[in-house]
Amino acid sequence: MKNVGLIGCGAIGTVLAEAIERKLVVCDELILFDFDVPKAEQLKKALNFPTTIVSSFDELLKRKPAVIVEAASQQAAKDYVPRIASAGIELIVMSTGALLDLNVDMTKVHVPSGAIGGIDAIASAALTGDIQVTLTTRKNPKALETQDKQPKIIYEGYAEEAARQFPREMNVAATLALTVKPSRVKVTVIADPNMKRNTHEIAVTWKFGEMLLRFANDPHPDNPRTSALAAWSAIKLLQTLLKQ
Ligand SMILES: NC(=O)c1ccc[n+]([C@@H]2O[C@H](COP(=O)([O-])OP(=O)(O)OC[C@H]3O[C@@H](n4cnc5c(N)ncnc54)[C@H](O)[C@@H]3O)[C@@H](O)[C@H]2O)c1
Repeated sequence: MKNVGLIGCGAIGTVLAEAIERKLVVCDELILFDFDVPKAEQLKKALNFPTTIVSSFDELLKRKPAVIVEAASQQAAKDYVPRIASAGIELIVMSTGALLDLNVDMTKVHVPSGAIGGIDAIASAALTGDIQVTLTTRKNPKALETQDKQPKIIYEGYAEEAARQFPREMNVAATLALTVKPSRVKVTVIADPNMKRNTHEIAVTWKFGEMLLRFANDPHPDNPRTSALAAWSAIKLLQTLLKQ
């Protein structure tokens, strides 16, 4: 029996649960944990799939899911990732910013490509140690909780600090930082009222060439900070892990 545990029944958790219901991911039962219990209840009610709600993280661990997906928050990831890693359970972490400050055995901890892609190529190039990466993110002010009426640079600096200053909006920066470390990623965040999509441009110069990647993602209707692609990247990774 293969169970999937889901921490967080918000925008990403809901897309993932619906994919399980549609059998895009093959598993027998979904176990939901959300500290906002009505969110878990609402999701269970909408699903036509064997689903159990647990009322605590300890209860989720006791059920020993084959894979747990964290789709909650950086604080949730900080609190739960070390315990899931110690329990030897496969884990997909969406709130990748939390991993910058954690020192855990990563054997079974998986970082999805999230709202971007090309991570494989960037990770390969980073092995040479001769790599410069810049990320330019443009989002509508609504997705950055600012009121700007004109395009405005609201952050310039390194990726780690971007993920700390924008824990809900800039996990992409953390994912890139984890991909190229110990090299650093320079980040610019622009609040732009003309943007309908969350746009990430990644420019890489490395020892043997250059890369230019651009992602223009529709924001999730329930949570404009989150891109649908992030949820689908978790679904893809979950498919792969459950086939093992
Ligand atoms: N890796 C990426 O590229 C990427 C992209 C988008 C979003 N994210 C991150 O993924 C996470 C989920 O995003 P979302 O859009 O689904 O968020 P959301 O706010 O829509 O949903 C999060 C859910 O988690 C629950 N939750 C929060 N803290 C919890 C805790 N400690 N224990 C249990 N439940 C908790 C909330 O009640 C909520 O229902 C966020 O941290 C977000 O920043 C990552």
